Order: sequence, then C-alpha cells, then structure tokens
Amino acid sequence: MGRVYWFYGLSGAGKTTLATGFAAWLKARGVTAVILDGDQLRSGVCKDLGFSSEERLENIRRAAEIAKLLARQGNIVLAALMSPETSMRRIAREITSPVPFYEVYLECAVEVCVKRDTKGLYSKALSKSLTDLPGIDRRFDPPSCPDLHLTTHSTTYAGCLEEICIHYASLPDGT
Ligand SMILES: Nc1ncnc2c1ncn2[C@@H]1O[C@H](COP(=O)(O)OP(=O)(O)OP(=O)(O)O)[C@@H](O)[C@H]1O
Ligand SMILES: [Mg+2]
Repeated sequence: MGRVYWFYGLSGAGKTTLATGFAAWLKARGVTAVILDGDQLRSGVCKDLGFSSEERLENIRRAAEIAKLLARQGNIVLAALMSPETSMRRIAREITSPVPFYEVYLECAVEVCVKRDTKGLYSKALSKSLTDLPGIDRRFDPPSCPDLHLTTHSTTYAGCLEEICIHYASLPDGT
C-alpha cells in the first residue's frame, strides 16, 4: 500500500512548491509520487465546483477518493489542497483509511501570503473583487496536531523540504 501526504494551508503557503520538491526528491530515489494539486483538480475533475464550504468539502471528497485509489495501488500521493476547515481534513483522512495518511500543515502568516500573492488572489480579495478567500474573508482552522507542522514564513524552502524528507525516511518502509 502507498501513502497519502495531505499538504494544506493558505493560498501561497507553499503547498504546490513543497509537494513538487518532495516529488522530485522521491524521484531521485526511484520512487514515483503522484501529485494531486487543487488547481489542476479544479480545472478538470472539480470544474463544476465553487468555493462555498459545501463545494470545498466536495472538492476534498473527490480528491481523497482519487488519492485512495492511487495509494491502494502502491503510489505515494501528494495532495496539495487548501483544506481550510477541520472537517475537511477529517473527511480526507476518513475516506483514505486504512491508507497511511499524513497531514502536512504549512503555516504561513497571512501578511506574508499577501506579500507573496503568487496568483494575485489577495489583491483581488482585499479590493473586494474576489470573495471567499481563507485568511481574508473566510475562516482557516489551524489544526491541533498535524503529523508535520512547517512554518513557511520563517523556515526556508530547503529547511521545510528536509523536514518532510526526514519524516518520510523515518517510516518503516521509507527509502
Ligand atoms: N519555506 C517555503 N516553502 C514553500 N514555499 C516558499 C517558502 N518560502 C517562500 N516560498 C514561496 O512561496 C510561494 C508559495 O507558492 P505556492 O504556489 O507553492 O503556494 P500554494 O500553497 O500552492 O498556494 P495555492 O493554494 O494558491 O495553490 C512560492 O513562490 C515559493 O517560492
Ligand atoms: Mg498551489
């Protein structure tokens, strides 16, 4: 059986960046990882969904079902979705059970995300031309005990990646 790493955090926290870096690290060790990125899912499988809590939950549900299918075939799955509410992370874990599931919380201060503004979402949200952005006009529930908690506003990319790789290598069938 494979594993699921569920990267979550605010927009701009570094989910795509770190999932991509981790996949490359695994590839260099002969392990192929499958990335399930929120943006890519929303451009296809989840094209019909918006950004209400219900629709975000459905987005997560679909991602988790796909993650489970892939992990049961032996893949390491790196899901990178904002997953702002506690219930969303709980459902992802429940759906993927009994596949090993690791929550990777990427904490990043909202002011830093606003400064990064990698997609221009924050400037739109602050000027009110976009709504429902977690951290601005929608809640983000910080987790109480994620498997990994990385602070991407104060730890370098290399430092964050190293922690993820150490976690991977510390598990029984880690390579
Ligand atoms: N420690 C770090 N870890 C990850 N990314 C970092 C770090 N420090 C700075 N960055 C930068 O922050 C940005 C993170 O953008 P990224 O697209 O990965 O965020 P995201 O969480 O996937 O956002 P979204 O939810 O909008 O897809 C990148 O420009 C990256 O270079
Ligand atoms: Mg992303």
